[in-house]
Amino acid sequence: MAQRLSDDFLRLVREKNDIESTIAPYVSLRRSGRNLVGLCPFHGEKTPSFTVYTDQQHYYCYGCGAGGDVITFTKNIQNLSFYDAVKVLAERAGLRMPENYADDGMDKLRRRCLAANREAARFFYECLKSEKGREGLQYLRSRGLDASIISHFGLGFAPNEWDSLKKHLNEKGFRNDELEQFNLVRKSQRGTYYDAFRNRVMFPIINLQGDVIAFGGRVMDDSKPKYLNSSDTVAFRKRQGLFALNFAKNSSEKTLILCEGYMDVISLHRFGFTNAVAGLGTALTEEQANLISRYAEEVYICYDADEAGQKAARRAIESLGKVNVKIKVIRLSGGKDPDEILNKNGVEYMRRLLSGAMNDTEFRLTGAKKGLDLSVNNDKVVYTNAAAEILASIPNPVQRDVYLSAVAEDAGVSRDALSAQVERIRRKKKTKEDHARFDRIVKETVGTTRTPIYPEGVSGGRKNAEERLLSCLLRNPDFCRQVSGEIGPQDFASPLNAKIYSVILEKSETSSPADVHTFSQMLADEEIGYVSYLDASDRVLANTVAECLDCIAKIKSDDSGAQEEDPGKWDNEEFLKQIERIRNEKK
Ligand code: GTP
Ligand code: MN
Repeated sequence: MAQRLSDDFLRLVREKNDIESTIAPYVSLRRSGRNLVGLCPFHGEKTPSFTVYTDQQHYYCYGCGAGGDVITFTKNIQNLSFYDAVKVLAERAGLRMPENYADDGMDKLRRRCLAANREAARFFYECLKSEKGREGLQYLRSRGLDASIISHFGLGFAPNEWDSLKKHLNEKGFRNDELEQFNLVRKSQRGTYYDAFRNRVMFPIINLQGDVIAFGGRVMDDSKPKYLNSSDTVAFRKRQGLFALNFAKNSSEKTLILCEGYMDVISLHRFGFTNAVAGLGTALTEEQANLISRYAEEVYICYDADEAGQKAARRAIESLGKVNVKIKVIRLSGGKDPDEILNKNGVEYMRRLLSGAMNDTEFRLTGAKKGLDLSVNNDKVVYTNAAAEILASIPNPVQRDVYLSAVAEDAGVSRDALSAQVERIRRKKKTKEDHARFDRIVKETVGTTRTPIYPEGVSGGRKNAEERLLSCLLRNPDFCRQVSGEIGPQDFASPLNAKIYSVILEKSETSSPADVHTFSQMLADEEIGYVSYLDASDRVLANTVAECLDCIAKIKSDDSGAQEEDPGKWDNEEFLKQIERIRNEKK
């Protein structure tokens, strides 16, 4: 059996890759005391809760619980396996990967899936050029695509046969059960395998590393379903994918054009708009919005002109509103989607549509007015109410004022009355946000992370004692000797805490005591986030053996664990009391 990557090698990789310079390309960091803070790249936020601890070389996000070291960061930000993340960092530091390392099972499977996909993409491409693919080629030609754009996007054709891809991949050494798992073949009720994509033109979906991770396949007539898209596999998460981002990321523009369909993207690229991308047939997710904000300062939403497209645009605005990116919305005319518009009206026309894009406020106000007759009193009220909600959500006061005047004039209502209503809504919203902020502070102070690691009904005091003990031991491994006789892994209410405790104990006897890095190869990501949180340097501790013994006494005297309420269910007042108690303990 191959070896796991050795601790020594991993330590070397970490030493050679400073956490700050690893994170800096993705997050704009500013100094805050001893640490660095920035907007978390793993969830949408507008105030920074992502903290980089340069001393300990790890990071933790108080908003979403993401955390870990350089390897965890690289793994998650680039969507790599643990092994591949180490490889990227090793290469960056000029280190050679050890030979005969272990690739854990997932890595192997993932690479196998990518290999099968690459082979499948090649097969589809060859088919398109062969006699079997004549109809497919004709279809793509009829949509204006020539040989160079077809090969640029690697488009292909799945023949009108039951198992030609399956046979081809079998010959290349792939087993049917693997291919089924990779969504390339399906299993019939009789137990035979057949191709998942048949008689369709094929659009490979390629990730930022250039791997084919999935496919979309389109029928060539009006039959249904029009598109068949791969569902998730070990190598593909639909929620995180954007079609053509692999090309668009190289565009010199700091903007992305976001559209709905594969064909829209391909036409835009064909006409020189090489910064176009599309979601993969789902409503734009927060993950996709996040990805967009990493590659663009501004995004042009270019969705279909129909009702469905406009609805999808509103949802996209909602997702994009949570991340740091300027939003523009294009009002399409001269065709139903960018593909049709470009083919009918050409580049200049499209350029004018782009430059006439509305910002998100204008788009929402236009949407609110649609179908209403402002000379009718009732419609006027409906519009003014909707507009007030939209105005209240504009954070910039100058901008808010400008649109307030415009709406008042447009609707023919008094500016003062409208302004008063907007302020009322803003106050209500602020109260709500205050509550949310309060919850966040509570979470940071009391230490409830999102990792659900406790059995139902364990008391807040018990959780706190377990976590404080682990924090203290992580920072003071030399205490283990005096503490280990008093408590065993089995005394912890949470299995994860028990595991962390065992590792701390075991490592405390060695020359390299346990820290966040020790865990990155053993735990799931949110669990590593939790260790980061335990280890965070702004957790205030007495850092004494007495504190550990006190925690142990609390853990051991808490027999039932089911009498007190779970802190998640406490109301705010009880939370405050709890915080107060912890503060006093810290003094
Ligand atoms: P055409 O121009 O008709 O080839 O398609 P389009 O690129 O304009 O796409 P359309 O606007 O019809 O749909 C947008 C996207 O939604 C497509 O690119 C697909 O990803 C997805 N989609 C469309 N139809 C279907 C369907 O029937 N099933 C699934 N799963 N996805 C679909
Ligand atoms: Mn279309």
